[in-house]
Amino acid sequence: MSRKIGVKILGTGSYFPKKIITNIDLEKKVKTSDEWITTRTGIKERRISKKNELTSDLAFKASLEALKVTDILPEQIDLILVATITPDMFFPSTACFLQKKLYSSISSQKPAFDLSAACSGFIYGITIARAFIKSGLYKTILLVGAEELSKITDWTDRSTCVLFGDGAGAMILSASDTDDDILATYLGADGSYSDLLFMPAGGTANPATINTVETKLHTIKMDGMHVFKVAVPKMTLAGKKALELSGKKLKDIKLFIPHQANMRIIKAVAKKMNISMDKVFVNIHKTGNISSATTITALDEAIKSGKIKSGDLVELIAFGAGFTWGAAVIRI
Ligand code: UT7
Repeated sequence: MSRKIGVKILGTGSYFPKKIITNIDLEKKVKTSDEWITTRTGIKERRISKKNELTSDLAFKASLEALKVTDILPEQIDLILVATITPDMFFPSTACFLQKKLYSSISSQKPAFDLSAACSGFIYGITIARAFIKSGLYKTILLVGAEELSKITDWTDRSTCVLFGDGAGAMILSASDTDDDILATYLGADGSYSDLLFMPAGGTANPATINTVETKLHTIKMDGMHVFKVAVPKMTLAGKKALELSGKKLKDIKLFIPHQANMRIIKAVAKKMNISMDKVFVNIHKTGNISSATTITALDEAIKSGKIKSGDLVELIAFGAGFTWGAAVIRI
């Protein structure tokens, strides 16, 4: 009889660039106000990377912190997975750049690849990592969500530039005979909404030209209100489905960690799921929306701040471009 393989979450880490841009700073760049941004989104400030600080640099620092917490050595990692929509380059993958940084003194040659699911990227990543470990293919996986959205932001467009930030979070997962920390995940996508949140140029649809640069097509374009309207029901659906699949009840979950895109979305989802806000983790005021890095950096902060402790059940819920959505019920 084949042995059932469980998945243990060994630990997490995160890293944010040092530079902070506040709403007051943005008032000097575009026609906006701290009051508008705060009441419409909940965001007060965001972290912004330096010109020569790459997504893989943030991923590297977050990974080092996760490695430190778990006592895992880089050479014990069997697979590196990076969820990002802001890779260092189109290719090679940011996961390969991260591998190079992690193994500067030894040759790794372990597999590494990126996955693209926008703000749901980390939930997609957990699902993939879990499946790989449970299949017996890989024993220990480094999963990272890393973004530098500031570098694909149009800093003259007030409807988007106030929303996004940079950061990275990492999780190390490993095969276990005794623990099974990922109780359930649920994923969804609907490509018919692809033109509501996207970066039009740079790919095969609109290869880079002087015109694509001049018309700022290499930056985030979003129909915010429409995205908002779909985000709430889809996050609610994902949250309920993953919970159902886990066999747990709302009361069993110590903390809900929703994607931090808008405080009003977070509150609406909590209301629809019947969760009181004191069980919902919020750090949007400090980070803004950091896409695939959001849920993992929030989880790491919740752990480090003592809000949740070993053995607690947590539900991560996300929604993003694609559209994609997903949720995961995990034990930390
Ligand atoms: O992470 C992936 C998923 N992304 C999201 O979930 C984002 C979802 N969408 C949102 O969070 C919200 O739709 C936004 C925060 C983007 C916008 O909030 P809204 O309440 O939907 O505002 P709106 O787009 O309907 O704009 C309302 C007004 C407009 O002015 P008029 O036409 O009413 O005169 C905008 O031009 O607010 C104006 N506006 C601003 N005013 C001051 C838009 N951006 C700004 C700004 N400062 N930064």
